[in-house]
Amino acid sequence: MDATDPAGPAAVAVVALWAMLPAYVPNNVAVVAGGGRPIDGGRTWNGHRLLGDGKTWRGTVAGVLAGVGLAVLANTAHESVGTLVGVGLPTVTLPAAVGLAAGAMLGDVVASFLKRRTGRERGAPVPGLDQLDFVVGAVALAALLDPRWFVGTFLRPVTVLVAVVVLTPVLHLGTNGIAYRLGLTDEPY
Ligand code: CTP
Ligand code: MG
Repeated sequence: MDATDPAGPAAVAVVALWAMLPAYVPNNVAVVAGGGRPIDGGRTWNGHRLLGDGKTWRGTVAGVLAGVGLAVLANTAHESVGTLVGVGLPTVTLPAAVGLAAGAMLGDVVASFLKRRTGRERGAPVPGLDQLDFVVGAVALAALLDPRWFVGTFLRPVTVLVAVVVLTPVLHLGTNGIAYRLGLTDEPY
C-alpha cells in the first residue's frame, strides 16, 4: 500500500494521527518535566508577564527531545504497525520531526504570549486556542523545515491535514477528560 495515498476515511485518520505523534507528546512531557527557570526570565510587558511561569526551559527542552525521540521510535515501528492495522504508515524525516515537536511547543508558547497580552493569568483556559495552538505550530514549523515531507504526508491527499485539524482537538479533549476523571488535572479540558 502506498503511504502517500491512504484509501478511505479510517486509513486517512490513522495516517494523520501517526504522522502527528511527534507533535502530541511534547506538551504532555512538558507538564511532567516542567519547572525551574521560566523562558521569559520573569520579565513583564505592560504589567503582565511576557509568557509566565508555565513556560519553562526544562519543560520545553524535554518536550522537544521526547517528540523527536518518539519519531525515531515510530520510524522503526511504522512497517510492523502498518501491517498490523492494514494501513501504509508514513515515516517522519528528522527535520519534520524537529518541526513537529518544536512547533508544538512554540505554538503553546505563542498562545501563552497572547493570553498574557489579554490579561489572562497562568492556567486560564481559552477554549479553541488551547486545543489548536500546538497543532498549528507543529504543522507550520514542519512545513517550513521539510516542505517536501509536509506536502507528501499532509497534502496528498489533503484530507490528511483536514483529519489532523478535526481529530486533534477531539483527541485532546478526550484524553484531558480521562486525565481529569483520574484526578491528574484540575480542568476537564
Ligand atoms: N510547561 C513547561 N514548559 C512549557 C509548557 C508547559 O514547563 N513550554 C509545564 C508548566 O509546568 C505548566 C504545565 O506544563 O504549568 C502546563 O502547561 P500549560 O497548560 O501549557 O501551561 P499553563 O500553566 O496553563 O500556563 P499558560 O496559561 O501560560 O498556558
Ligand atoms: Mg494550561
